[in-house]
Amino acid sequence: MLAAAMSLALLFVAPACGNKKPVDTGPRAMHPVAQKKWITLCVNCHHTDGSGSGPGSKTLNPKPRDFRSAKWQDSVTDEHLAKVIVKGGAATGLSKDMPANLDLMAKKKAVSSLIDKIRSFRSAAE
Ligand code: HEC
Repeated sequence: MLAAAMSLALLFVAPACGNKKPVDTGPRAMHPVAQKKWITLCVNCHHTDGSGSGPGSKTLNPKPRDFRSAKWQDSVTDEHLAKVIVKGGAATGLSKDMPANLDLMAKKKAVSSLIDKIRSFRSAAE
């Protein structure tokens, strides 16, 4: 009973946090279009852990990079990531194996959800 009352209380307190970014307590919900892409396409090469070692990466050269690298995360802007995701590797000077997703051209929310996903792999290690 007490636990139920407490979680109810939390429900009311949480939205009161205003616009401050909430503490990241785990994987954030993805935009549905982005999630479908991620699961049905991206993970095949980039892996569910962002390491770039998905089953489809085996024959690729170069391999998809490790999204966990903090050094790499710092070296790329969100604009760059958006461009690669929508226009593909060939259009951005990267591997042509990275497919374009032209269907996402006008879907800014889905693209930014994919960018959030990529950013979420950042690890404290290099
Ligand atoms: C067929 C394999 C494959 C698929 C599917 C794939 N990628 Fe890639 N991706 C690559 C390769 C290869 C590269 C180029 C090497 C690199 O820079 O990581 C790349 C590069 C990238 C980069 C740029 C990395 C950089 O250095 O700037 C991003 C971002 C990215 N992929 C995101 C995605 C997302 C999001 C999806 C799904 C919508 C996806 N990829 C689907 C293989 C793939």
